[in-house]
Amino acid sequence: MKAELKKLKDRAEGALKGITSADELEAFRIKYLGRKGQLSELLARLPSVPAGERPETGRLLNQLKRDITAGFERVKKSLAGEPGTGAAAPVQDLTLPGRRPALGHRHPLMQTIDEIKDIFAQMGFKVAYGPEVELEYYNFEALNIPPDHPSRDDFDTFYVSGADDVLLRSQTSTVQIRVMENEEPPIRIIAPGKVFRPDTVDATHSFMFHQIEGLMVDEGVTFGHLKGVLKLFAQAYFGPDTQTRFCPSFFPFTEPSAEMEVSCSLCKGKGCATCGSGWIEILGAGMVDPNVFKAVGYDPEKYTGFAFGMGVERMAMLKYGVADIRFFFENDMRFLSQF
Ligand code: PHE
Repeated sequence: MKAELKKLKDRAEGALKGITSADELEAFRIKYLGRKGQLSELLARLPSVPAGERPETGRLLNQLKRDITAGFERVKKSLAGEPGTGAAAPVQDLTLPGRRPALGHRHPLMQTIDEIKDIFAQMGFKVAYGPEVELEYYNFEALNIPPDHPSRDDFDTFYVSGADDVLLRSQTSTVQIRVMENEEPPIRIIAPGKVFRPDTVDATHSFMFHQIEGLMVDEGVTFGHLKGVLKLFAQAYFGPDTQTRFCPSFFPFTEPSAEMEVSCSLCKGKGCATCGSGWIEILGAGMVDPNVFKAVGYDPEKYTGFAFGMGVERMAMLKYGVADIRFFFENDMRFLSQF
């Protein structure tokens, strides 16, 4: 019996080598693996093998079946993979329509930036950009934040190793300085971009997020202009019924400083689980500090201006009811495709 097993193995292996078409392969399957095939035949004779040898012979038979089946599958695959090898080759229907490439779209944060840009463009603001890797001077000194001033902590940031005055900007206010260094008033700009802070990541914090800065400088710009422009913006972005209010605040580069709050669009200012009081703080703002004008060589007796800064993620979260800032950065299509 063992000798026959060996012979069967050799024959099957030889036969497999000669197979070039699906028909031949099928004939092989019937001959060796089929119900009345040669393997079955040997299997049927197992009871007549002396009891002592039976377990060993049974094991060899099973092994042989596995080997022949594996060989069969291997040839089947290689026939299917090669076009032109007869009936086993997949039929290619050249009249089928092509596969449509998946079309993406702009990231929700970029959509939010675009929308805010458009609103300010209607009020004559043009867009300015500044570098993400910045000099300490633009992030701090020129913005009236001297070394060792405690308010540096609020804007603490990542320093670039190897240079003690180079950092990843922690606010887009840097662009105020860069624009004013290069241009004379009147100035009306907004500056969108990434900022970086060593915050621990949670539902509302990220070590990188986006801000949009705004700056308007001219002769005779007042706090009234600040309120008017930002109120128009809030109503354009959140809806015409939106109420605004300004609360006193502090920033080293504006004096006086304020935070603008908008009435919650969910409860219309009545107070709900999202807003608590009915009001939601959306941005910091104020009149440009005379020291900032001095840093860029403007005459603070001649010019006045206002500046503001808002978080883009926060604006998008409020408008679309996104509960967690991390959704914006995980690149999960189930989230992104909703925008
Ligand atoms: N740069 C401030 C911040 O990051 C926001 C701000 C900008 C406040 C401009 C006033 C004027 O929090």
